[in-house]
Amino acid sequence: ISGLGSAALLACLIALFGLCTARSDAPRGVAVPFVFDPNAKCDPPCKHAGICIRNNTCFCARGYEGETCQYANCYPKCKNGGECLRPGKCRCPPGFGGRYCHKVTCDGGCWNGGECIAVNGVAKCICPSSWSGSKCQEAICPQGCRNGGSCVAPGICSCPEGWLGGACHTAVCSHPCLNGGKCISPQKCRCRPPYFGPRCEERRKSH
Ligand SMILES: *[C@@H]1O[C@H](CO)[C@@H](O)[C@H](O)[C@H]1NC(C)=O
Repeated sequence: ISGLGSAALLACLIALFGLCTARSDAPRGVAVPFVFDPNAKCDPPCKHAGICIRNNTCFCARGYEGETCQYANCYPKCKNGGECLRPGKCRCPPGFGGRYCHKVTCDGGCWNGGECIAVNGVAKCICPSSWSGSKCQEAICPQGCRNGGSCVAPGICSCPEGWLGGACHTAVCSHPCLNGGKCISPQKCRCRPPYFGPRCEERRKSH
């Protein structure tokens, strides 16, 4: 025993009491060399299987630290504001995941090729140019969708009945307007004088 260091000696003493958890790499906040006092009292008591080695001095089990071994430690440390719940187990704030909260997760995911990244610690979808919305769920129609049309895919409008065209800008007259008349809204012709009638089929008599 004479050739051993004090830490090793302590490990041996603790071993005699059946409490052999001491390792030179484990103690934190404990002065070395220290004395193991079997009558020591720790109040508040040592948590997480820590051992009371002197009055109000805890020797913490691997994975815990703090005055009363109240804190779990996580290696690698929890990233992005994660909390170490127990050794090696992080609780991650919203928007982060993975064993060490090192991964960004966007709630509901990012659609249509959007990429989830952390912007100032907040998870956010970065959308391709033709999509928008918090999940990149909304298509962008640069031409606009008029007359009640809705943008259903990039550049594609879904048009209400009676309208056609890339921006739903073309009215449909199922019976074509005659005599140079123009279809200006569904089933409605604007006629060139002197024509009139639903399809501009009649000619006004002039004198
Ligand atoms: C530890 O505290 C107790 C009282 O709680 C006291 O009787 C004892 O002498 C203390 N031991 C040392 C080593 O100070």
